[in-house]
Amino acid sequence: MQRTPLGQTDLTVSRLGFGAAPIGFLETPPTQVGKLVDLLLEGGVNLFDTAAMYRGAEQLLGDALKGHRDDVVLVSKAGHAEKAFSYDAWSPELIRASVERSLERLHTDHLDVVLLHSCERDVLDRGEALGALLELRAEGKVRHAGYSGDNETAAHAAGLDGVEVIEMSVNIADQRNIDVVLPACAEHSVGVIAKRPIANAAWNPLNKQRGMYQQYAKTYHERLKEMDVTPHDLGYHGHPEVEWPEIALKFTLAVKGVDTAIVGTTSTVNARVNIDAAAKHPLRDQVVQTLRQAFRDAEQKSGTVWLGQT
Ligand SMILES: NC(=O)c1ccc[n+]([C@@H]2O[C@H](COP(=O)([O-])OP(=O)(O)OC[C@H]3O[C@@H](n4cnc5c(N)ncnc54)[C@H](OP(=O)(O)O)[C@@H]3O)[C@@H](O)[C@H]2O)c1
Repeated sequence: MQRTPLGQTDLTVSRLGFGAAPIGFLETPPTQVGKLVDLLLEGGVNLFDTAAMYRGAEQLLGDALKGHRDDVVLVSKAGHAEKAFSYDAWSPELIRASVERSLERLHTDHLDVVLLHSCERDVLDRGEALGALLELRAEGKVRHAGYSGDNETAAHAAGLDGVEVIEMSVNIADQRNIDVVLPACAEHSVGVIAKRPIANAAWNPLNKQRGMYQQYAKTYHERLKEMDVTPHDLGYHGHPEVEWPEIALKFTLAVKGVDTAIVGTTSTVNARVNIDAAAKHPLRDQVVQTLRQAFRDAEQKSGTVWLGQT
């Protein structure tokens, strides 16, 4: 598995990373998470992304990664209000309590990256939330601070003092951040994590999606219908369900400026497919350009702006 520096942090990350949202929200059994994590580690994946609000994901990941702390880059997120804390969303008190609980759940004394979990611009402007992360960084509990989100707010976050990493949606059905956020990340040498990198597998019918993805994948599903591109059009002649994951992941990895793409999965079979796809030769530039053009054309035809989806 190829590795790359994450912006100007001291971290080196695998191009394929792991997104822990589905193991939390879909309540994947611990034994299955154990198998998944072992397979990912064997495949050379070292970046694991989670969040305080992904239900049991931090605990599941922390338990499965026991004994591997020094081999992995742990990314978590904080900021949303929740019943366990009596603090306001995005307050310094909440962020501190949340990060300290993340440390416990992930069985570690430091997190490599903590991101503000998709707050609005006014929260960034107040400065308290980022200030809290930077205080935790000064104490050594957090190594690098950043922001997870999209569009103009993420572009703004990339230029803030102390922000070293931005996580944003980049995929075949979500391309606006490529033009709006990535240039700001390049200008400020910020590390880039691509979330939702295979577009939630939204080429599948919505009734085949599980749990939260039925709703979550809807916008991408509609966009892909409007883009009307098939793997066959792109020169791939296998079954679309087999070809799409590889094309989608390799599209995101081909986007200049993306350091790592964190695919969410509960399945060892799909994790294997993703590891193999990331190792294959890059997507041909012509295929990338066809998908870029299809997005632009369909967006224009729709008469709306296809915003980056959080
Ligand atoms: N605001 C934020 O900060 C934010 C928002 C969204 C996501 N994220 C992060 O980004 C990560 C990735 O995003 P995501 O999970 O929403 O979307 P994603 O990675 O684009 O797609 C995940 C979906 O794709 C399926 N899948 C994975 N590999 C596959 C393959 N080879 N073939 C077919 N289906 C496959 C998974 O199902 P199976 O389980 O069946 O494999 C899952 O339903 C999250 O897990 C989370 O860590 C952050």
